[in-house]
Amino acid sequence: MNTNKAAADRIKELYTEIARHNQLYYRDDSPEISDAEYDALFRELQLLEEQYPDLARPDSPTGRVGAPPRESFSQVSHRIPMLSLENTLTEEEITEFDERVKRFLALADGEEIRYFCEPKMDGLAVEIIYEDGVFIAGSTRGDGFTGEDVTRNLRTIKAMPLRLSAAAPPRRLEVRGEVYLALKDFQRLNAEREEEGEQPFANPRNAAAGSLRQLDSHITAKRPLSLFCYGPGEVNGYDFTSQQHFLDTIATWNLPVNPRGKSVSGVQGILAYYRDMADARESLDYEIDGVVVKVDSFALQRELGEKSRSPRWAIAFKFPPRQAVTVVEDIIPQVGRTGVITPVAHLAPVEVSGVIVSRATLHNWEELEKKDIRIGDTVLIERAGDVIPAVVRVFPEKRTGTERQLPVPEQCPACGSAVTKIPGEVAVRCLELSCPAKVRESIIHFASRNAMDIEGLGDKNVEQLLRLGLVKTVADLYTLTKDDFMRFDRMGDKLAGKLLTALDNSKKRELYRFIFALGIRNVGQHTAKLLAAAFGSIDNLAKASETELLSVREVGPLVAQSIMAFFSNPRNMEAIQRMKDAGLQPITAEKRLGGKFAGQNFVFTGSLTRLTRNAAKQLVENAGGHATGSVSRKTDFVVAGADAGSKLDKARELGIQVISETELLEMLEDEEI
Ligand code: IVH
Repeated sequence: MNTNKAAADRIKELYTEIARHNQLYYRDDSPEISDAEYDALFRELQLLEEQYPDLARPDSPTGRVGAPPRESFSQVSHRIPMLSLENTLTEEEITEFDERVKRFLALADGEEIRYFCEPKMDGLAVEIIYEDGVFIAGSTRGDGFTGEDVTRNLRTIKAMPLRLSAAAPPRRLEVRGEVYLALKDFQRLNAEREEEGEQPFANPRNAAAGSLRQLDSHITAKRPLSLFCYGPGEVNGYDFTSQQHFLDTIATWNLPVNPRGKSVSGVQGILAYYRDMADARESLDYEIDGVVVKVDSFALQRELGEKSRSPRWAIAFKFPPRQAVTVVEDIIPQVGRTGVITPVAHLAPVEVSGVIVSRATLHNWEELEKKDIRIGDTVLIERAGDVIPAVVRVFPEKRTGTERQLPVPEQCPACGSAVTKIPGEVAVRCLELSCPAKVRESIIHFASRNAMDIEGLGDKNVEQLLRLGLVKTVADLYTLTKDDFMRFDRMGDKLAGKLLTALDNSKKRELYRFIFALGIRNVGQHTAKLLAAAFGSIDNLAKASETELLSVREVGPLVAQSIMAFFSNPRNMEAIQRMKDAGLQPITAEKRLGGKFAGQNFVFTGSLTRLTRNAAKQLVENAGGHATGSVSRKTDFVVAGADAGSKLDKARELGIQVISETELLEMLEDEEI
């Protein structure tokens, strides 16, 4: 009985701790503990739950890793129907909407309505239900009346709390929100899929929907879905008075809410908000297709009521679609870093919401055949969550008979070797190791910002290096001299010097960047970080056994196999050795307990000049410190660069020691890194 009580207490404690670290990691982007420490907490909980299955509760964070696949989803009816919104694209209709609302509420002349405006997320609507603060179930919108039970899949969304952090939560709280995929996560997911020869998703919305509606929630758990909550369903035991009040309150309970919502007055306020969001749209990390305008007061919302399928108190003010019609001038097969050959449409340049587009990805040959896209075709293209637009459809009625189909290539367009189609994959690949296109792409990848960040070494310069025969593999990069660069077209002394310095600087990047830069199949930036933290050096990683690799969180058999295949190739080992001989010395990501900054919290603000923000954070962590995102009483040092903002003010307010980048480096001088 006693052990049981102790276990129950510890389980409860772990729930709270893990939930707090999830929030810090996923919501605040400022983790307080390392991945390894998090894993240890998680494993402890898993073991306890296995030992005492009766003690596991529905809000257990262990439910986040997914549950066994099921045959189909069960249907659930929504207690309150999930209505849709009336749409408009014009200012006139927004003015009419405002007039209608005022007329219905019989407002006096000159009186204005307070509206709450929010970005219209382009994802998938869900309902999540909390009872006494505990997440118990969730469903998709479905037809508005009945949706699918996706409880197990929703549990895997880290941004969604499994327990509300409310002292006195409502007895029942139904919250509606939008599940979406951030653009960077969408791009990463698609890149991985293409590399794996799987069909990429057409846009982030399809990717989010496809991921949430997985019968196997382990798959959902691997997709980095996000959530913004935007409205109440049935609520028992709490009185929300307005949309603003609702959102502010649920945000304090840790439910994720879009920070860009805003209360405005009258139609002028709506129009100004719409224009602001249209401007912000391109720089947001997620897709929006308009703004949603809601009468703020819940009392007025009730008075206005609903029509059959949509409320009278809200309207969607949509952005024009980012689509255009143009002609496919050519289709060119392009060879990627891993040898996948993709067809790329070269288009007659056309403007799509402010951007001139002249290329569209056709993803793969199956897609090309399915959509029957031919050279000379008139097509509808769309920019959707990707820098590279996609072809939505062809207009066959515009064909003149001169259009040409492009057959699946039998030879690599870059090196002429026979291509391979791996059964079960949609991709066609060139497997030739020395294929110049693959070499070119792998060098560009190696030098890219997220990898070794060699400034100035982009497509054009890599091409010159290859053309002049100065490099044959990435390993040749570190043998380059200033004179080599001087042989480039239009190269001056200063620029050549800069390139050489950039190369030199890259010799001391964080280990995870180097691992990512190597271009190991199935090892993206995220996995590279996990590997760097787990193995601490490239030699350890190269030596790791399959069991050791599999013991790293999120590393599965496919990734483990890819890593082992990479390091068992003598050419790769030789390349790594040559780079090391040339002075490459990645900084290990290993956190040092008992380092100079052990247990101390650092916050960075403003722009640094000598180090990148990431490198500075890494140095702090190597010395045992923590780099966190926001200033609080727990912060020990704020490192302020140029144009430091509100964090600096907050630090001064709290009397926290503020240091410069130089001072930080001086403090670290006697630390070995
Ligand atoms: S409120 C009755 N707010 O748009 C009002 N919806 O066309 C219900 N959506 O099914 C919706 N962002 O999937 C609301 N901030 C937001 C939204 C939003 C996206 C979606 C939602 C809904 C559809 C309605």
